[in-house]
Formats: sequence, C-alpha cells, structure tokens
Amino acid sequence: MHSTDLRTAIEQRRSIRHYTRDPLTIEELAYLCWCTQGIVEMKAPFYTLRNVPSAGGRHALETYLLISRVKGIKPGLYRYLAFSHSLATIDTTDGISDSIMSACLGQAFVRSSAVSFIWSAVIYRMAWRYSERAYRLVHLDAGHACQNLYLAAGQIGCGTCAIGAFDDQQMADVLNIDGKEEFVVYCATVGKKANGT
Ligand SMILES: Cc1cc2nc3c(=O)[nH]c(=O)nc-3n(C[C@H](O)[C@H](O)[C@H](O)COP(=O)(O)O)c2cc1C
Repeated sequence: MHSTDLRTAIEQRRSIRHYTRDPLTIEELAYLCWCTQGIVEMKAPFYTLRNVPSAGGRHALETYLLISRVKGIKPGLYRYLAFSHSLATIDTTDGISDSIMSACLGQAFVRSSAVSFIWSAVIYRMAWRYSERAYRLVHLDAGHACQNLYLAAGQIGCGTCAIGAFDDQQMADVLNIDGKEEFVVYCATVGKKANGT
C-alpha cells in the first residue's frame, strides 16, 4: 500500500468529486472500514476502543455502504459490522444508488462514486449516558470518522467528499431506519482519483 507521511496526507487532503471507473479491491474497502470504525480492543462486552475516538466510548455510529464498484462485491447497500469486521447485505435491488443519490439532494457524484459511506447514529447508545447532549456528540464523532476516511482514502489513491446535504426522512426511508431512534448524520463518497496515487 502506498504510504504518505501524516503531514503530507493532511496537507494534500482535498474534497474530490470526480472519480475514474476503476474499482476498489475488497482489501481497500476493508482498510477504509477499519480506519473509520475498526475495533482495536474490547474493554468489556460492547465497550470497544476503535480507530476513531467517541464521546465516552459510546460508539453510537453505524456505517452503511453504498457499494458500486468493489471487485467481488455485488453492487448495493451494505452495513459494516465492526465487531466481526464484515459486511451485512441490506439491499441489492436495482435503483438503490439512484435512491441514495436522490436522498443526497441529487448530488450526482454519489452515483459515480465507487463506495459511499453513510453514517447513522443509534442515539440511545449515547443518550443513556449524556441525555440530550448526545445529539451534539454523535455529530462530533461522525466528524472524526470522516476525517479518517479522507486521510485513509488518500493512502490508496482515492478521493473523498463529505456530504452534509441530504434529506433526513428520505435517507431514513432508503436505509429502512426510523429516523428518530436511528438517523443519518453524515455521508462521504470515495472513488479512485484520475491522477492515481
Ligand atoms: C460537514 C460538511 C458537509 C459537507 N457537505 C458537502 C455536500 O453536501 N456536498 C459537497 O459537494 N461537498 C460537501 N462538503 C465538502 C466541502 O464543500 C469542502 O470541504 C469545502 O469546499 C472545502 O474544500 P476541501 O475539502 O477540498 O478543503 C462538506 C464538508 C463538510 C465538512
């Protein structure tokens, strides 16, 4: 894997919205999942330390993946299962990427991305400890995940673009979540950059 020193990776980070048609490998997707939510230590059942910080170690985020071009994976919507570092299939019917692009207010680079990350928050995991302040904290947690995605994607010749412009209810409907107990907080697209590494 191409390796860039941290300062260069930070300084070269840009939001990239144009991608080549090249697919990611499963290993590259696994690396991005690992860097954004990977569990490095189990402190107790359901108390994890991960590659991203989280207020009180609550880790209320879930990661959904709209996969369009990853070698060996059928295009569709998946969920990253951090505990087993694996994927669960959610929806591989035709039109899912159109639905997610539409929920992102028609931003076309969602559909042309190789993978789009969609982070939701299961608010109870944060709220049982922090009450209404949880609604602030889950957004801060998502920022950490997305910044790691930007930096990790740069290491594998990919560009990323954060997305905060989406329709809450439309997004909840596509993901089949209720939009209240679990709701989408942030998204980001990933794809191979035209100029390679
Ligand atoms: C919270 C947040 C939400 C964003 N939402 C969008 C978005 O919906 N669509 C988009 O094209 N870019 C979005 N961006 C990317 C910004 O436009 C981009 O970071 C900014 O123009 C600065 O460019 P840079 O990231 O290359 O430094 C978002 C960035 C952040 C941090």
